[in-house]
Amino acid sequence: MRTQVGIIGAGPAGLMLAHLLRLEGIRSIIIEDRSRAYCEGRRRAGVMEYWVAQMLIKTGVGDRLMREAKLHDGIYFAWDGKAHHIDFKQLIGQQIYVYDQKEVVTDLIAHRLAQGEDILFDVSDVSVHDFESAAPKIRFHHKGEDCEIACDIIAGCDGFHGISRPSFPAQVINQHDKVYPYAWLGILAESPPPEKELIYTWHERGFALFSMRGHDLSRFYLQCTPDEDVSKWPDERIWDELAIRLAGARPLTPGRILQKGITPMRSFVTEPMQTGRLFLAGDAAHIVPPTGAKGMNLAMADVRVLAEALTEHYKLGEEIRLHNYTTTCLRRIWKAQRFSWWMTSLLHIDPRRDTFDMRRQRAELDYVTGSKAAMTSLSENYCGLPFD
Ligand code: APR
Ligand code: PHB
Repeated sequence: MRTQVGIIGAGPAGLMLAHLLRLEGIRSIIIEDRSRAYCEGRRRAGVMEYWVAQMLIKTGVGDRLMREAKLHDGIYFAWDGKAHHIDFKQLIGQQIYVYDQKEVVTDLIAHRLAQGEDILFDVSDVSVHDFESAAPKIRFHHKGEDCEIACDIIAGCDGFHGISRPSFPAQVINQHDKVYPYAWLGILAESPPPEKELIYTWHERGFALFSMRGHDLSRFYLQCTPDEDVSKWPDERIWDELAIRLAGARPLTPGRILQKGITPMRSFVTEPMQTGRLFLAGDAAHIVPPTGAKGMNLAMADVRVLAEALTEHYKLGEEIRLHNYTTTCLRRIWKAQRFSWWMTSLLHIDPRRDTFDMRRQRAELDYVTGSKAAMTSLSENYCGLPFD
């Protein structure tokens, strides 16, 4: 097989990259080691920055998003039984969308297949070769055969556990890693969301987030320990704990719980994001804790930069943007890392906390929901900082 860009991974990053390249007439092949059903069913965070939604709409993959996604004017911070609104629209004239990442993946897969382009699902033993030369290759097994893709560029969009990042020569890579002493228990429940917009809740027993996937479908998260055993969370305990942490700020209507799972919390950045003709994008290069809702948005920002750089490379023969890919992306990534770390530390209870930390957090919450300057800063970061 021969193509221009060989893409590893059919998550938001790989699929959107292939889509943007196709619009510029640049050919690509996507390989994915899981099944189509797995990719389409993997439930992840749901907040989309406005520019991401516009990019999907303008490039012809936003029809369902326009029908089904919900536009939110702001978010709430709640503690001590009171919810405080942070109104993005009023403060900075921006809004965000709530649309699960699995829907984005589903839409992008359907669009690519409808265009007659392929995605090779269920591949195995993927490896990358000769990416320091002008003739990189991707090798893998597919349907019982050994396969090879010869390409100009390899895009490693294979998430945090993929093979692309570990294939970088050890001497070129720097990794910045922070693991938090807590995680999230994620819950999907047949229950009306307690509010039209998201509620981020501080409570001395731990953080809780009240999000939604529809009129009668809620997505909730409870701070738990990283090694939490889900079986210790029967439905009744979950509803009790959600009610305690929301502390009456809004009413809760318990319903059937459809899913429970643990989301780990990590901040991670790889530098550089490129070596030779191998480029990383999305979770393959960086992880943010979900509190800042930046994961999918950062993946989309990377592939926007990469698609522009590759377009310049193929159309004008210019290498500057490709050469600067890491530097361009990292400016946005580090700001999103800072914001995600800040939201996380503000709202979670560190098991090693002392009374000073608790009082400091509460003072900061009071400040963040009381000062127009602080709310404006939060709004800018939450809605997504402008591109250069
Ligand atoms: N070969 C082929 N595909 C692989 C391999 C491999 N060796 N390893 C992983 N993959 C696939 C995964 O199965 C997954 O479908 O790569 C894809 C990576 O997708 P994501 O993990 O969704 O990563 P990305 O596209 O960068 O999207 C980032 O995901 O974790 C969230 O919060 C994060 O929203 C952000 C988004
Ligand atoms: C979600 O709806 O899944 C969600 C929303 C906001 C976050 C994280 C997850 O910060």
